Amino acid sequence: MNVRVYPDADLLKRAAAEHMTALSEASINAQGYFSIALSGGSTPKAVYELLTDKSFSRYVDWEHTHIFWGDERCVPPDHTESNYRMARLALLDQVPLPVSNIHRMKGEIDPAQAAAEYEQMLRQFFARRRDGVVRFDLVLLGMGDDGHTASLFPGTPAIEENERLVVENYVEKLEAWRLTLTAPVINAAEHVTFLVSGKSKAEMLQQVLEGPEQPYDLPAQLIQPASGHLLWLIDEPAAARLSKPNQG
Ligand code: 6PG
Repeated sequence: MNVRVYPDADLLKRAAAEHMTALSEASINAQGYFSIALSGGSTPKAVYELLTDKSFSRYVDWEHTHIFWGDERCVPPDHTESNYRMARLALLDQVPLPVSNIHRMKGEIDPAQAAAEYEQMLRQFFARRRDGVVRFDLVLLGMGDDGHTASLFPGTPAIEENERLVVENYVEKLEAWRLTLTAPVINAAEHVTFLVSGKSKAEMLQQVLEGPEQPYDLPAQLIQPASGHLLWLIDEPAAARLSKPNQG
């Protein structure tokens, strides 16, 4: 695990955009495409907006970039809470990305069906790999101040899922259904990168990174790529409680 701390949210988002651009170039050079699972949340949103800047967007081969989601709210795609809508407005509509490269979760249909369809689509997409394994080049994640990541919320059934790649997950405290990638498919990725910003995250970040293992209560601890690279990009306010803030 590698933890990088930046002085503020602005430098953090710049580092994240550079990281994504570099990984997309490396993946496309190596295998001809780049697969990225996006996250919801305010920190990733700022990064998506920055990626539309010419200083980044012109270096990205959008034609060979495939966009997926790590999680989705069970709402229609034009709903203000939709993660798809957020990414579309912040980034996807502003860059020359073929529509067929956008693979969204269907928040508007029955959650169990949407999860099954997404899993099926992922298996079909990644059948292009020699080993057929569903392996994203990059999964981008945020972390909630309750320790959730993607839509793996504390104490919910999704965090115990070991077979399925995508599940529907009812989150009692939100009184809402979510769709989410499960820990096994996230942990199969080549790169998993957390973006965490702001002092409201400091306490939880310390528990997740330095506290005892209790993934049922702190789902972000479930994320430990098997052979891929785990990177935490955080800003100083979020890192305030860490005893060893720079581990990379
Ligand atoms: C979602 C997210 C979620 C998010 C975290 C952090 O759809 O809610 O995917 O996991 O990334 O809650 O969000 P912030 O960056 O806004 O704190």
